[in-house]
Amino acid sequence: MRRKVDDLRERGSMGTTNVMIKSTGAYVPEKVMTNFDLEKIVETSDEWITTRTGIKTRRIAAENQTTSDLAYEAAKIALERAELHPRDLDLILVATVSPDMFFPSTGCVVQNKLGATNAAAIDLNAACSGYIYALVIANNFLITNSYKNALIIGSEKLSAFMNWEDRSTCVLFADGAGASVITPSSGESKLLAYDLGVDGSFGDQLSVPAGGARMPATEETVRNHLHCIQMKSGNAIFKIAVNRMKETFTKSMKKAGITIDDISLVIPHQANLRIIESLGKYLKLPKEKVYVNIHKYGNTSAASIAIALDEAHTEGIIKRGDIIGLTAFGGGLTWGSAIIRF
Ligand code: ACO
Repeated sequence: MRRKVDDLRERGSMGTTNVMIKSTGAYVPEKVMTNFDLEKIVETSDEWITTRTGIKTRRIAAENQTTSDLAYEAAKIALERAELHPRDLDLILVATVSPDMFFPSTGCVVQNKLGATNAAAIDLNAACSGYIYALVIANNFLITNSYKNALIIGSEKLSAFMNWEDRSTCVLFADGAGASVITPSSGESKLLAYDLGVDGSFGDQLSVPAGGARMPATEETVRNHLHCIQMKSGNAIFKIAVNRMKETFTKSMKKAGITIDDISLVIPHQANLRIIESLGKYLKLPKEKVYVNIHKYGNTSAASIAIALDEAHTEGIIKRGDIIGLTAFGGGLTWGSAIIRF
């Protein structure tokens, strides 16, 4: 018995009860910011941003709109599609690096906005890998039969943490939210395998250094933009990102016992079109099997895969029963992948 549990753990999929993504939802703010708008703010060009990143436009939240508001809008859609009342929820996980505040958690704020009176709620910070981490955590609560209905949300208002004088970051990041309802499955839909990882030694590559216990807010930290996203070397992150996403995805495919040919669609974290293309090349993925929407939304961190999954589903690109792959990397540095029979 012990051996069997260990074997299943090793597979990264306990699988006693199958767990599925029952529904998806997404919300992006109305305001569209183009590369041409950015040309007026920092020394950059549409040509540079397009060729180096693939981004053409991104969405920016209104001043009075915060991460929990975006999360709430996406959650409402996912709940409606799952035909669930917020009171049916047992667990809410909000993946974000741009919480409304340190505490209460954005999960608690969303729980209150939804009126999900029977749910436990927490935030989790795995940066751009956040949606995959949330999916795995929800899966593992459900397969032990602890909970029945979980709501996972990736939501970001990264514009609130942007130094609008720093052209190396402000052209990349943006706002948005995606949500999924996770429930037990009686059919073939399930999380087949996953892989998660971290290398904290690269923590300083991407960070918001001030505002925490290590560097509390002072006039100097504000003046030096240390409450904003700092990126040490875009180039270094680029290389690590491609390698880690490739490795983690290959591990998940192996755990699931599948090959690229079995996969209908891969949804990678949308950080940079060149990163996505390099990944596709390494994995020998035909272009039509890789979902890309970075040109519309930029890098929305934990929301990126959640929004893309919702779009791919609502556009009819993925159907029930299809095998899809998710893979991400992000600040931390974190990475993760999942293979799902949708
Ligand atoms: N406009 C114009 N020029 C720019 C801009 C800009 N917005 N930003 C940088 N440059 C300049 C640089 O100053 C540099 O000039 P120099 O050669 O005179 O020194 C030149 O462009 C080239 O810079 P590189 O950094 O070498 O450009 P690169 O081709 O690597 O592209 C980029 C930079 C887009 C940041 C890329 O490295 C990348 O996407 N890396 C991954 C970053 C990432 O995904 N971060 C988020 C991780 S997810 C998360 O956790 C939130």
